[in-house]
Amino acid sequence: MSAEAEALELDAADPGHRDLFDVPPAQGGDYPDVAYFAGNSLGLRPRATRTELLEDLDAWASLGVEGHLDADRPWLPYHELLTGPASRLVGALPNETVVMNSLTVNLHLLMVSFYRPTRSRHRIVIEDSAFPSDSYAVRSQARFHGYDADDAIIRLRPRPGEECLRTADVVEQLGGDVALVLLGGVNYLTGELMDIPTITKAGHAAGAIVGWDLAHAAGNVPLALHEWGVDFAAWCSYKYLNSGPGALAGAFVHERHLGGDRPRFEGWWSTEASTRFEMTPESRPPASADAWQVSNPPIFSMSPVRTSLELFDKIGIGVLRERSLRLTSYLERQLSEVMIERPVQVITPTDPQRRGAQLSVRIGAAQGAGALAKRLRFEHGVIADSREPDVLRLAPVPLYSTYHDCWRAATALAEAVPA
Ligand SMILES: Cc1ncc(COP(=O)(O)O)c(C=O)c1O
Repeated sequence: MSAEAEALELDAADPGHRDLFDVPPAQGGDYPDVAYFAGNSLGLRPRATRTELLEDLDAWASLGVEGHLDADRPWLPYHELLTGPASRLVGALPNETVVMNSLTVNLHLLMVSFYRPTRSRHRIVIEDSAFPSDSYAVRSQARFHGYDADDAIIRLRPRPGEECLRTADVVEQLGGDVALVLLGGVNYLTGELMDIPTITKAGHAAGAIVGWDLAHAAGNVPLALHEWGVDFAAWCSYKYLNSGPGALAGAFVHERHLGGDRPRFEGWWSTEASTRFEMTPESRPPASADAWQVSNPPIFSMSPVRTSLELFDKIGIGVLRERSLRLTSYLERQLSEVMIERPVQVITPTDPQRRGAQLSVRIGAAQGAGALAKRLRFEHGVIADSREPDVLRLAPVPLYSTYHDCWRAATALAEAVPA
């Protein structure tokens, strides 16, 4: 049997939920649709999103301001429809989770509460390969509090010759001067899944607050934020959560921090919903993550997040992770054959427990990652994500990617990279 026929057979035995998504047409290659591997950058649109967003839009047309209370999905408590599924997705209690703003905005709002530096304890630990937005955010927080960002930020680097961080090395860096550990749950570049419970515990033992950027983890791997004792976390919804470009983000605050007197930036959405329209000059924040809200939420941005979270709720992140493990291992096997004769190397951990869906591929210096991604797109109909100078990121997404997609990606790479 040909490798392609084998891939098709695997798809028949282990189908995902591709029929629930709009898969873009290919702009090159032999197949009508793209083989889409950029779900770690922007997930595909669920088919239900358009219909349900139009329903919300039409409530505005037919009800005007009365839609706040009278729409089928009333706008005033709309964000509460997202809280249950979002909390189940990240392993949180419902009152620990809220969907609001964008990811970096949420990181800032959470750092207002959780980065409380003193002269003797003011340092922030991040990965050297943190997504730049996180790096800018923590540097600006340090400066905001009057510290020199170069001194305040500790950047964790892998050992020489290695691509990923070792948990023991991370733990070793957590000294008594660390106020905050803020790491990516899954690293955006290497795809490494960090040991969130162990690092959280070690950070606490060192007296630090531990927050997580879950942009590449939410909807990708199962999480248990409450059980792991994570202090706070934030994630975006446009990657594995398929909620559209710039979609609203999530935030988590552990129960033990709720209802206390931690400083927060407030607006009228920070106050208890039942008292909001009393129009009093002082807020009465609820003992929930809702207290971190500031403004009234954009309903038409919440709608796609609601649709998508319902899908995750129905199918279950555990089931998706199982398929993800099978699909990514299959892609890895296909790529290992490409690697035999070509300057191509997977830099993501080989242990499936230390990675999510994504495999990051370092390509030889001969061609830039961007140029290679273009060739894959226009000559093979394969959409991969590139990070210059030399990393291609391929994320088979268990909801909609297929074994045949993986076969196509590996075959295209073999043709595009000279031996
Ligand atoms: C790990 C990580 N952090 C932060 C961001 C920035 O997110 P936003 O622009 O939604 O604030 C991204 C965006 O891709 C990301 O991957």
